[in-house]
Amino acid sequence: MRIPLIAGNWKMNKTASEAAAFARELVQRNMTSPAIEIVVAPPFTALDSVRHTLGTGSSIGLAGQNLHWEDRGAYTGEISAPMLKDLGCRYVIIGHSERRALFGEGDDVIQKKLAAAFRHGLKPILCVGESLGQREAGHTTEIITGQLKGSLAGFEASQLALLTIAYEPVWAIGTGKAASPEQAIPVHRTIRQFLQQQWSGSLSQTTRILYGGSVTPQNVSSFLASEEIDGALVGGACLQVESFASIADLAQKRTGH
Ligand code: PGA
Repeated sequence: MRIPLIAGNWKMNKTASEAAAFARELVQRNMTSPAIEIVVAPPFTALDSVRHTLGTGSSIGLAGQNLHWEDRGAYTGEISAPMLKDLGCRYVIIGHSERRALFGEGDDVIQKKLAAAFRHGLKPILCVGESLGQREAGHTTEIITGQLKGSLAGFEASQLALLTIAYEPVWAIGTGKAASPEQAIPVHRTIRQFLQQQWSGSLSQTTRILYGGSVTPQNVSSFLASEEIDGALVGGACLQVESFASIADLAQKRTGH
C-alpha cells in the first residue's frame, strides 16, 4: 500500500518571514492525516523558520529543492545533504526540469545528487519529464526511460527504497495546462515497468510515482483516481494555504479517510 504524497514545491517564493506566516496558517488548518503524507519544499533560506513554526514532531515533512553532491567544501553558493538533514529535511527534490533547463543539470549530475541523498538518508523526489516537442514527436517513453537510466544506473534496490519519482511533463509545468490522466497514466506505467525490469517487482510496487504539472484543487482528484498515481508535486497551487490545503483534503478523501 503506497501512502499518497502531496509535496509543495515553493520554488523561489517567500522570504523566511512570509514562509513562517504561511506555515502558521498550515498549522491552524490542522491538515495532518495518517492517510497521506504532506511535504513542503521552501527555499533554503526559509527551511529553518518553517521548521520552527511547524514545530518538532509535525507530520508535515520538509524538503530541500536541490542539493550539492559533495558533503562540504569549496562550492560557493551550494547546499549539501548534511546541511539539509541538520535543518530537519526528510526529502529533497532532485532533477526538477527548471534545474535541468536553466542550470544545465544532466543525468550524470543528477545521479551524483541522488547518491548524496541516499548516503545521508534523505528521500529524493526525482523529477522526470518530456518537452512538448518530444511528446509530439512520439518520444515520451524513450525520454523518460533515458532519464531514469541515466540517473538511476548503479544504485541498489535497497538505496532506491528511499526514492519517490515525479512525472512532470515540462509542457505542463507552470502553464495551467496539466496533462490529462489519460496522458499521464501510461507514463506512470512505463516508469513502474522500468523499475520492475531493472530491479524488482517489489521495488516497482512500493515506489511512489507522483504527477506534477499545473496540479490544482480542480484537477487533483482526476489524477488520484488512478491507482497508478501516488500523489502530486504541486508548484503554483501550493503557494496559497487555501489551495494547498484543498489539494491535501482531496487526496485524503481518495484514501477514504
Ligand atoms: P506547477 O509546478 O504546479 O506550477 O505547474 C509544478 C512543479 O514545477 O513541480
